[in-house]
Amino acid sequence: MIPFLDLNKINTRFKTEFQDVFQQFLDSGYYILGNRLQEFEDAFANYCGTKHCIGVANGLEALRLILEGYKVQGKIKEGDEVIVAANTYIATILAIKQAGLNPVLAEAETATYGFDISLLEDALTPKSKAIMPVHLYGQITNMDAVNAFAKANHLLVIEDAAQGHGAKFILKAPNPKHQIPKSAFDKTQNLFKAGNLGDAAGFSFYPTKNLGALGDGGAVTTNDDALAETIRKLRNYGTTTKYVNDLPGFNSRLDELQAALLNIKLKQLDQDNNKRQEIAKIYLTQLSNPKVILPIVPHFDAHVFHLFVVRVTDRDKFMNYMNENGVGTLIHYPIAPHRQKGLSELNHLSFPVTEMIHTTVVSIPISPVMTDEEVRQVVELVNSY
Ligand SMILES: Cc1ncc(COP(=O)(O)O)c(C=O)c1O
Repeated sequence: MIPFLDLNKINTRFKTEFQDVFQQFLDSGYYILGNRLQEFEDAFANYCGTKHCIGVANGLEALRLILEGYKVQGKIKEGDEVIVAANTYIATILAIKQAGLNPVLAEAETATYGFDISLLEDALTPKSKAIMPVHLYGQITNMDAVNAFAKANHLLVIEDAAQGHGAKFILKAPNPKHQIPKSAFDKTQNLFKAGNLGDAAGFSFYPTKNLGALGDGGAVTTNDDALAETIRKLRNYGTTTKYVNDLPGFNSRLDELQAALLNIKLKQLDQDNNKRQEIAKIYLTQLSNPKVILPIVPHFDAHVFHLFVVRVTDRDKFMNYMNENGVGTLIHYPIAPHRQKGLSELNHLSFPVTEMIHTTVVSIPISPVMTDEEVRQVVELVNSY
């Protein structure tokens, strides 16, 4: 059996380090908002190339707190609109709603599964204040086009980077709001990491993510000092000085234990992403079944293969076949957000490309702990379908 994702195998690699850090954590008697969180925030900001990282409870909260932060600053007000990818996980849209704003969905393209840039104009109204691209499956959306559209229309750019830890994009037109990349190679190539491609970004550390905690976790990255300070307050009842509450904030903190575990795993992230890209290269060159449509990947830097997603017309049959032959598959995601009962106010909308994607996509196994033999077996099985 080749499981879709073996989380135990992923995390067992760090067993000794986890045990050591847990012992230190237990001995410290300090569980929330301490040095371990600070260390992780510094390390993750450094990794993304941003000035700030603020650890929060999960990815949904990261996105919501960015919007709440802009509300505090007066840049967005209740009832304003946020243009968001129609083709996303429901959390992106719920974050907008929970911040008291109106999501306006924009259609996808099949090349990156992100925005169809040519259709963004259709979503624009005088109430549009922000745009939320999603780096779905680990592939960066066309951020030059998104940033240009945002600039022309005075929109804030909020990346949903929940699936994109470590993905890089060549920004043709970086501006002062993007921190210059630190590595000499990235600098000459103009390669900017997810989280440093707009005004602010939300990350998720849900256990299955490329950088996953052993529980819930999330983070905001930004180069905006004032926004970072506001979100730092908002995540902790509106306070940074104990019992002095400047804002009517929330409780949305990344705890010390998760931060300590993430700090250990962060050191392995680039290697893990490289392994995912290696497997993806094998799939892209060796999968040759005409019934299985492969993703389009012009730049490997821009894709960290959180998921390897193919499209198959007769999806149930394909999944049954894979399952009967011992290979786990999943669907990301079976129902488009605007078709969900939980978003009934959007049910009247039609996004044919997004709907086609949701009815045909299947994710096949990809992970840093797959063996060469397992990858070979998946290739053989898909090709003989
Ligand atoms: C694209 C996307 N956005 C947001 C989220 C929300 O993250 P979390 O589950 O940590 O709240 C997720 C993951 O679940 C996601 O995949």
